Amino acid sequence: MNNKPIGVFDSGLGGLTAVKQIMKEFPNESVVYFGDTGRVPYGTKSPETILQYTRDDINFVRSFDVKMIIIACGTASSQALPMVKYENEDIPITGVVDATVYAAVRATKNKKIGVIGTVGTIKSGAYEKLIYEYDKDIEIHKTACPLFVPLVETGHFDTPVTRLVIEEYLEQIRDAGVDTLILGCTHYPLLKKAIGEYMGDNVVLIDPCAEVVKYLKKKLGSDMLHSDTPDKEQYRYFVSDDPKGFAQNGSIFLEKEIDGQVEKIDIEKY
Ligand code: DGL
Repeated sequence: MNNKPIGVFDSGLGGLTAVKQIMKEFPNESVVYFGDTGRVPYGTKSPETILQYTRDDINFVRSFDVKMIIIACGTASSQALPMVKYENEDIPITGVVDATVYAAVRATKNKKIGVIGTVGTIKSGAYEKLIYEYDKDIEIHKTACPLFVPLVETGHFDTPVTRLVIEEYLEQIRDAGVDTLILGCTHYPLLKKAIGEYMGDNVVLIDPCAEVVKYLKKKLGSDMLHSDTPDKEQYRYFVSDDPKGFAQNGSIFLEKEIDGQVEKIDIEKY
């Protein structure tokens, strides 16, 4: 048994899709969540800045003596994971890329996979590198979708403007005939309905956080990571900017009210 909380972080709201899955799959687990809302988006920043932000985020969640960390951010996972793993060898850290790619490679029938993500994620090539490690014959069609994160952060999940932007970004990938699309940013599952309708019923959409929690399920099977009773404060949320806005929009990500306080912290101190 290990009743310590799981640390989860993202640049903003997107990582709450991981918290939603944890709540569903592991009702006894406690979570410390950090959304770096003061510095979002990460996707347009340089690799050096992403690494620094990721280090800060890890230091912050580690201050709660968490038992493991989920980097619920495609951008931080694809650019900083190896380094921060190396720097924090004493604690398990999981990003979203591995589990997502594994699911996509298993899902594709026609060996045509689409990958979408932030500018930083697409530039890093992290998803394609790993796809090719599994199967060199897979055809990959990728594009960065920088407007998706602000649309999601402002609650435009399925509005006419969202549909217009989806068409602009995804037309070529759809026309290439992919049968699987990696939503390589944890904000994108909030656009799943609109993206799914645009891509058509035959295209499988891979949700990174859902895949990571499935992966976690294997880990939590071991005694070290299994919790029998939740903390008194089972879910704790921290942000680096306006807590009110986070609580409001966050409830849409979680599909339930955020119970408990959302606290603002100064992430630069970590
Ligand atoms: N959820 C983050 C990701 O998966 C959002 C990216 C951003 O902050 O630009 O990449």
